Amino acid sequence: MKVGIYPGSFDPVTFGHLDIIERSAKIVDELVVGVLNNSAKNSLFSLEERVSMIKEMTAHIPNVRVGCFEGLLVDYMKEINATIIIRGLRAVTDFEYELQIAQANGVQNSEIETIFLTSSLNYSYLSSTIVKEFASYGGDISKFVPEQFIDRIYAKYNITR
Ligand code: PNS
Repeated sequence: MKVGIYPGSFDPVTFGHLDIIERSAKIVDELVVGVLNNSAKNSLFSLEERVSMIKEMTAHIPNVRVGCFEGLLVDYMKEINATIIIRGLRAVTDFEYELQIAQANGVQNSEIETIFLTSSLNYSYLSSTIVKEFASYGGDISKFVPEQFIDRIYAKYNITR
């Protein structure tokens, strides 16, 4: 059984993430969406909030589950018997950083393979940072995240619709 992990901060999860999750769930037997609990990074949403949003968004995909981890990704992968890392590539600007992490993780554990999925054209501009930037000014984020998340995101900036 091939277990893959799609790791990230997901602060918050977007349609771009969902696209990668849906497509990679067809490649591996089980996909774990691994939410990084990084206490040093100031995230807008708590770990619990991020996990809960991803669960809501992926409830329709039977072989996806959501987990969270602290510390090194390679250590968490051992814990859950995952051997494949899935990452999305939006543009060439993502590539250098992603290549470095993929190679470093491969050196740490030679059993690990990183698979890059190119983002769908519809979402190649989209990131959690873009969502937060637009939301912070009360901008339209309806093309970025599901309807049921919009108020939760605005609430972080004390914005009501
Ligand atoms: O959504 P992000 O912030 O681009 O995800 C980055 C992530 C979580 C994949 C990366 O920072 C990570 O794996 N962090 C865990 C710590 C680790 O293993 N570091 C070594 C590789 S950078």
